[in-house]
Amino acid sequence: MIESYEMTDDLVEGDRVEVTVGAPAHGGHCVARLGGPHGRVIFVRHALPGERVTAEITELHKGYLRADAVEVHEPSPDRVTPPCAFAHPGGCGGCDLQHVSADAQLRWKADVVRDQLTRLAGINPEDQDKIFVRVEPLPTAPDRPATSGDRAEPDAERLLGWRSRVRYAIDALDRPGLLQHRSHQVVPIDRCVIAHPAVQELDLLSRTWPDADALQVVASTGGDVAVLARPAGSSGGTAADDLGDAPAGGTLTRLSGPGEVTEIAGGRAWAVPPEGFWQIHPAAADTLVDAVLTMLEPARGEVSWDLYGGAGLFAAALAARTGARTTVVESSPAGVAAARRNLAGLPEVEVVEAKVDAALSRRRLTAPVDLVVLDPPRAGAGAKVVRAVAAATPRAVAYVACDPAALARDLKTFRAEGWAPVEIRAFDCFPMTQHVECVALLHRV
Ligand SMILES: C[S@@+](CC[C@H](N)C(=O)[O-])C[C@H]1O[C@@H](n2cnc3c(N)ncnc32)[C@H](O)[C@@H]1O
Repeated sequence: MIESYEMTDDLVEGDRVEVTVGAPAHGGHCVARLGGPHGRVIFVRHALPGERVTAEITELHKGYLRADAVEVHEPSPDRVTPPCAFAHPGGCGGCDLQHVSADAQLRWKADVVRDQLTRLAGINPEDQDKIFVRVEPLPTAPDRPATSGDRAEPDAERLLGWRSRVRYAIDALDRPGLLQHRSHQVVPIDRCVIAHPAVQELDLLSRTWPDADALQVVASTGGDVAVLARPAGSSGGTAADDLGDAPAGGTLTRLSGPGEVTEIAGGRAWAVPPEGFWQIHPAAADTLVDAVLTMLEPARGEVSWDLYGGAGLFAAALAARTGARTTVVESSPAGVAAARRNLAGLPEVEVVEAKVDAALSRRRLTAPVDLVVLDPPRAGAGAKVVRAVAAATPRAVAYVACDPAALARDLKTFRAEGWAPVEIRAFDCFPMTQHVECVALLHRV
C-alpha cells in the first residue's frame, strides 16, 4: 500500500492506494483523487460513490490513473453481491455495475447523463432539471431464468436475462468467454447471467471451439435463436462491452437457426438478419418507438426522415402516423436490404443506401421535412450532419443516443445552430452495464 501521496508520480501498475470514492463518471467507474480534493484523478471501477476502498492501479496515464477497488473498507448502502461470479477485478469486463443495486444503477446513469450534459453540451444543471428527470427502467425481460437464490435483491430480477445478442470470444485453448475490461484477454465463462434465457439454455459454453474466433448468438422477440461463428484466423474484433451497435467484424458462418430472425416491435413483425443491427434489450425497440412518437407527435401529412435507420424501425412508426413521405437513410447493405424487405408494404417509405452526411450533402435528401429521427452509432452524428439537419429546419428532431457523451457533443452543435433540447428521456436499455440510451427532443428556438 502506498501511504504517501506526494510519491504518486512514482506509482506503477499493481500498486495499491487507499481512497475515498466520489461521483460516477462516464465509462463505468467513479472519480477519486489521490491525496485529497486537488490530487491526481483516479478512475476506480468496482466501487460506489462515498466508499473508502483500497484501489489497485491498472493503468497509468499522463493526466489520470485507472484502478480497481480490491478491498472495500466502508461500503455504500447501495452495494450488493454481484449475481455473476465473473464480475470482479480482473474478471469479465462485460458488466460494470454488478455490485450496484438496481435503483442505484438508475441513479448512477442519471448522474452520468447530467455530467455529460453539463461538461460537453454546456447545459446548466438548473436548466437540466426542466428537461431531464430520471433514467427509466425497462419492463422485465420475458421468461427470465431464476437467479442464484437469495443473493438477489427483489428489483434485481429486471437486471438479468435481457441481453438478446451476445458475442463470445474464443481463447487460445479454444474456450468461449468474454473479454476483460479494456483488454483482448478472454475470460472463459460457463454462464452469462445477463444473457437472454434462450441464449443461456444453449450448450455453447461447456465445449471448446477449435474452428472459431468468435460466436454470435441472437435470441429474437419472435422466439428464434441463431448461432453464428467467425471462422478461426479471420479478421475482426470483439470488445468486452460490445453491445452490437457495429456489425461483427469478419465473415460469419451460420451454425444453427434461421437466416433471418423474427422481431416483434411497433405492432409489426420484422425479419432481420441475425448479424445485422437490432435493439438488444427485448423491450427496447417498443420503448424507443413509443418515446419518439410521444415526443414528436407526428401529424397526418408530415414528411419525415429516419436517419441511421437500420431496418426502418422508426420509419414504419412514423409512416403509420403521418401517411406521408418517409425516407430511411442507412449505410450498411444488410440494413438497407432488411429495410427494403420489411417496409415493402409501405408505399410512402423510401430507403436510401448512403452515409447520412453524404445523403444530406449530395441532396439525396431534400427539404422540406417536418420530422427527423437521428439514431447514430456510438460515435454520434457529428457536427456536419447536425448542421445539415438544423439547416433543413424540420418542426422537431428526435435524437436517439446510445452514448450520452456523443449526444451531449451533438447537442452543443445543435445549440450553436439555434436549437434547444426541450425534453430528454433516458432508458436503462443495458442493465448491469454503464450504458444508457437517451432520447432528446429538439426544437428550433
Ligand atoms: C444505433 S443503429 C440504429 C438503427 C435503427 N434506428 C434501429 O433502432 O433499429 C445505427 C445504424 O446506423 C447505421 N450507420 C452507421 N453509420 C452510418 C452512416 N454514416 N450513415 C448511415 N447509416 C449509418 C448502422 O448500420 C446502424 O444500422
